[in-house]
Amino acid sequence: MTSATASRSRPHARTRWLVPAALIFLSLVPIIAGTVRLADLSGGQVTPENARFFDSPVPVLIHIPTVTVYLVLGAFQFVPSLRRGQRGRPSWHKIAGRILAPLGLLAALSGLWMAVFYDLPPLDGTLLLILRLVFGSAMVAFIVLGFIAVRRRNYVRHSEWMSRAYAIGIAQGTIVVVTIPWVVLVGPVTELSRALLIGASWVLSLAVAEFFIHRRAHGSARRPHPSIQPA
Ligand code: HEM
Repeated sequence: MTSATASRSRPHARTRWLVPAALIFLSLVPIIAGTVRLADLSGGQVTPENARFFDSPVPVLIHIPTVTVYLVLGAFQFVPSLRRGQRGRPSWHKIAGRILAPLGLLAALSGLWMAVFYDLPPLDGTLLLILRLVFGSAMVAFIVLGFIAVRRRNYVRHSEWMSRAYAIGIAQGTIVVVTIPWVVLVGPVTELSRALLIGASWVLSLAVAEFFIHRRAHGSARRPHPSIQPA
């Protein structure tokens, strides 16, 4: 690396941790909500509001821990330096990826399980159920496609599919970003507006992922792709 290249890459080195920091910040609300829910369930007091979780506790007990680890650990998969292994040792990215793929599948499948079998709480309707089925299934499909791509050593496709899968997960944090302005400007959510806002969060998160995928692909036409190293 020339000194000119090194100095150009230094600001990038300083800012690269901003990406996981921002993703973890976005994750905070669903993670706190999940912790509150687990604390509520461990209290053992059944109310009309939480009865569906007591009726079938397994999926929620799988869902909340897996989504929490998936979002937090997954945020660090976007740090390029963690993709490089050293002295023949597997990289942090590769070790974490082996944990994240099954966790992501469990997170999405347990979400689908609850969507299908739990009684619908007030403000959850058929449209939200359909959206959950579509995006939950897409998350499963994207993780599987990302796994197949890495097995074929296609690291560019792997990173694209895994970025899309993570975008579906992080949308649980984006919901707050879209809902707060709605409540301030329009008023309390209804069954329809809640479903549309949650759907919009998924679409928005996937659009941001597509933007970065496109930008990286476009940039790679001029310089080598900083794809994941098979360390
Ligand atoms: C990976 C990111 C995700 C996070 C952080 C997350 C977070 C949560 C949390 C905290 C709860 C408990 C809600 C409560 O206490 O009322 C929950 C429930 C639920 N999640 Fe997720 N989730 C994620 C992904 C998904 C996906 C992809 C689906 C799609 C199928 C899904 C479907 C559900 C359903 C159906 C419930 C039960 C809702 C209810 O009956 O109130 N989740 N999720």
